[in-house]
Amino acid sequence: MTAFSTVKVALDDRSYDVVIGPGLIGETGQRLKALIGSNPVVVITDENVAALHLDRLCDSLSNAGIPHHQIILPAGEQTKGFGQLQKLMESVLDLRPDRGWSLLALGGGVIGDIVGVAASLILRGVGFIQAPTTLLAQVDSSVGGKTAINTRHGKNLVGSFYQPQLVLADTDTLNTLDGRELLAGYGEVVKYGLLGDHKFFDWLTENGLAVINGNADARRHAVMTSCAAKAEIVAQDEREQGQRALLNLGHTFGHALEAETGYSQVLLHGEAVAIGCLLAFELSAELGFCPFEDVATVRRHFETIKLPTKISDISAKIADPGALLDHMRQDKKVKDGKLRFILARGIGDAFVAENIDERKVAELLETAIAA
Ligand code: NAD
Ligand code: GLY
Repeated sequence: MTAFSTVKVALDDRSYDVVIGPGLIGETGQRLKALIGSNPVVVITDENVAALHLDRLCDSLSNAGIPHHQIILPAGEQTKGFGQLQKLMESVLDLRPDRGWSLLALGGGVIGDIVGVAASLILRGVGFIQAPTTLLAQVDSSVGGKTAINTRHGKNLVGSFYQPQLVLADTDTLNTLDGRELLAGYGEVVKYGLLGDHKFFDWLTENGLAVINGNADARRHAVMTSCAAKAEIVAQDEREQGQRALLNLGHTFGHALEAETGYSQVLLHGEAVAIGCLLAFELSAELGFCPFEDVATVRRHFETIKLPTKISDISAKIADPGALLDHMRQDKKVKDGKLRFILARGIGDAFVAENIDERKVAELLETAIAA
């Protein structure tokens, strides 16, 4: 069996490969050489990832004769703001780059997102490479070209669509990831099964624990299948005019829970997505779209994997359905003042639902808070 899998994101002249497998960081230099020749690379990472994986990546660039620089940012969501973006761009400009240079994001979604914004702005666009090191970043944020920072008005409100030229997802980096972060990333993996691929969901019910527990082949298959699902959707709807919205399954509820807990360590994004997916399936069943049996199947899988399933699993007290609804009304996905949900006709069959009766959503939230 070959060690690496490749998924193509087909976007005409902006098409790129997502390469997935163990030990890829050590091949970064030779893979970049084919893409950018000997043009310089600025590697940007956070302090946690720097301590674990930066030297290997830089050694690989040196061995390939690629000139490179490093910039290390603080770890954590608060890095994704105007202050750090300005510092980052000034630091890159201090190096006097030209448009042949590339920024390489080594890290989780925070690093990928802020580096993507910087790459799109510096000199009106320099090269952009993603080397994601969290499960969430490998299956979601590094693929598809959404880049953003947070502002005082909310999360991910300033950014652009700016596709990377290459994504190198070294699944070995997941071995150093904190167990809770890994599990949260799994919330995004299972989302692909739930939204469009019943067979993948079935595979996860058999192999999900192997993915969590570090089986290298299972991890590669899970990341590859997730990226292939995302690549197919992004190729058809890069700017989320239609079916890319399906990738937001669980996110309308999830973002409301994250906002209510202050986007903090109390509730990680993938955990919020997991609870949100279950709420979306429950709403789908209550509205008559989806069998209640499917809701029970999804819940059982999350319980086996040890993902949170209920609002009461969150350590902070959440008691006000009205506050959650208010957060939903401020979501980027609200259109003409109407809530939009991604609902399901069953496992593997999600759809965009407009004009959902807010009273039904309020009732569901009341029941969910009481459970
Ligand atoms: P993160 O980048 O904050 O990483 C989580 C933690 O893990 C950090 O402390 C980081 O230092 C550490 N870490 C990263 N890789 C590690 C490794 N291999 N070993 C040990 N520690 C490691 O968080 P995340 O969950 O990767 O990403 C969340 C961000 O992604 C959010 O800002 C979210 O908005 C964004 N996001 C973007 C998209 C998109 O399409 N652009 C999609 C989903 C999420
Ligand atoms: N994470 C959702 C998207 O990329 O569209």
